[in-house]
Amino acid sequence: MMTREEARERIAALSEELEQHNYNYYILAKPTISDYEFDMKLEELARLEHEFPEFLLPSSPTQRVGGGITKEFQSVKHRYPMLSLSNSYSKEDIEEFINRIKKSVEGEVEFCCELKFDGLSISLQYEDGVLTRAVTRGDGMQGDDVTTNIKTIRTVPLRLHGDFPAFFEMRGEVVMPFESFDKLNEQRIEQGDDLFANPRNAAAGTLKLQDSREVARRRLDNYCYYMMMDGLEGRYQTHYESLQAARRWGFNISNYMAICKSVEEIFGFINYWDVKRHELPFAIDGIVLKVNSYVQQQILGFTAKSPKWAIAYKFKAEEVETELQSVDFQVGRHGTITPVANLSPVLLAGTTVKRATLNNEDFIKQFDLHYGDTVTVVKGGEIIPKIIGVNFDKRQVGALPVEFTKVCPACGTELIQHEGEAAWYCPNAQACPPQVKGRIEHFISRKAMNIESLGEGKIELLYDEGLIKDVADLYSLTYGKLFGLAKEIPVLDENGIETGKTRKVSFKEKTAQNIIDALEKSKSVPFERVLFALGIRNVGEVVAKTIVAEYHDINAIMNASVEDLSAINTVGEVIAQSVKAFFENPVNLDIVERLKAAGLQFAKAEVQQSEKPQVLAGKTFVVSGVFTHYSRDGIKAAIEAHGGKNASSISSKTSYVLAGENMGPEKRKKAESLGIPIISEEEFDKMIGDATTEKLVPENQKEQNDQLSLF
Ligand code: IVH
Repeated sequence: MMTREEARERIAALSEELEQHNYNYYILAKPTISDYEFDMKLEELARLEHEFPEFLLPSSPTQRVGGGITKEFQSVKHRYPMLSLSNSYSKEDIEEFINRIKKSVEGEVEFCCELKFDGLSISLQYEDGVLTRAVTRGDGMQGDDVTTNIKTIRTVPLRLHGDFPAFFEMRGEVVMPFESFDKLNEQRIEQGDDLFANPRNAAAGTLKLQDSREVARRRLDNYCYYMMMDGLEGRYQTHYESLQAARRWGFNISNYMAICKSVEEIFGFINYWDVKRHELPFAIDGIVLKVNSYVQQQILGFTAKSPKWAIAYKFKAEEVETELQSVDFQVGRHGTITPVANLSPVLLAGTTVKRATLNNEDFIKQFDLHYGDTVTVVKGGEIIPKIIGVNFDKRQVGALPVEFTKVCPACGTELIQHEGEAAWYCPNAQACPPQVKGRIEHFISRKAMNIESLGEGKIELLYDEGLIKDVADLYSLTYGKLFGLAKEIPVLDENGIETGKTRKVSFKEKTAQNIIDALEKSKSVPFERVLFALGIRNVGEVVAKTIVAEYHDINAIMNASVEDLSAINTVGEVIAQSVKAFFENPVNLDIVERLKAAGLQFAKAEVQQSEKPQVLAGKTFVVSGVFTHYSRDGIKAAIEAHGGKNASSISSKTSYVLAGENMGPEKRKKAESLGIPIISEEEFDKMIGDATTEKLVPENQKEQNDQLSLF
């Protein structure tokens, strides 16, 4: 039996040795021991760690086989925002980029040309040489902590070697190599799971798995392309140098990089990889150019979204000719009918294509599509490929033209067209099955109510069983109703076509209970997401947030006129009309009432808690200028806390214009011409009888104000 001290030493030595072998194998591709020997050592390490759990390190090579389960990924703020790159598609775009840079900086400019990996960006944080956290891009400001899953990727170093800085971040891409992708999809066919459309989607799906053991099995890969830390430019002079250092510490840095100084050199690299990319074991979708010198990068700076010193050149989508066999018509959740072409299967950009979208009737007419036509298909980043042309020379004699259906393929209702729109709609919104199911699927989706335990065919089953006819019915589901339900449903391939195989969807004890729990939990989902979940046409996530920022509860939104709504910044007339139409429909009102009764959030949290006297009820304010005791958001919050409403532009419906310093002259003119009283901050304070109480400044606003005062 080993002593504790011996165990500690052996664990440390084995960890060190195994990580070195891992590096030799996966990064250098030069293994120095056999797989068998490696496995034996790993087994020994796992055994010792099991016996002496106090010596199990977060960076142990045993973590790579997975095992950890992440119930819910924690959302964490990025220390440095994760920006994206601006895109370019032509030599002219690149020339313009280079000229702009040469005008802004002095001296010669070198560009580091790199592959643009087609995967998911990841931020890897290292403290004292140990991987401490891996975070997905998310919205660029905050992402999900996926550390446990990332540790299973063999090319992500868990512990570094050499002269690494004490704290820094590496940015890179998680990709799924074609080999892993093909294997995964083959397995999914066998298991009766829907297939992934491309390696990027498969990588994204894999990183979000709760079971890291399964992540480990799927064999993701990682390439790093950017280092971030405070004072980086004091350590290295160029981006290229920093990546070479990172390679020495253990990171997987692509060998395919070049320093170029002219458009010709850059295009030499681009054209080479446009052809050679097909020989790479993973997907790339372009080339990234970065100004190499850190001094020059700093001079160039950033826009809100991307660095000005870098640009992505996107390869043209690959094209291929194939035959149009037939056309299906699909019904979306808003009743829009989309024609979809069934094609003779053809290999394109690494996957077999069997379908392409035809958009709408105009598209079919534009190409004068006939059955049996030879069409050119392209595949960009999107899941479903597009038809971009027809080879008329190959049209068969007697070929029949593609006619757009006049009735709904799902429920047989005669289709309608809205004036000025190319799309056809099925007007049977309440009873057309794909529309109803589509709305429910949207409602439960992650960014809406996040009732994911209801995904993957379960809605279909509940709908077919007559248990849910609309989203409100979800809340009358009980464990008793769910438990034991089961059905065989068709398995779809990567093109969304039935494979002929089926899989069983069933509600066992755990599934049924998870669903009931998730439904209960969804009752605290904030109002803006509930509004988004309702599936109002044209009301996406951002619009829902914008509307809720102005109108804090559902009644206020329902009572707002089209004019009021379209006065909200970025909410145009079209969106306003959709909102109005939605709430004028008694069926929707009934759903909202039932959802309210079920306990969902239909008001913004802080308004619900407001205990202020509602002295401004029925009054609409337009706030303009700068205030002494309030931030702009603070004064708006005060209006709403006292029952008033905010509007962003002055109309005959405005009750008061609340003017601070520097109110715009246009606003003043408009208010005066409509005879709307303009009141000051002091008058407002008197109105709410609150002159002496503390002003409402939201936490985040306080911070912003502090920052503003620095300038
Ligand atoms: S640099 C601040 N380099 O492309 C600059 N990005 O469209 C950070 N990507 O979000 C990005 N290969 O996920 C950079 N060699 C490369 C890249 C690369 C792929 C991805 C990355 C980024 C996206 C932008």
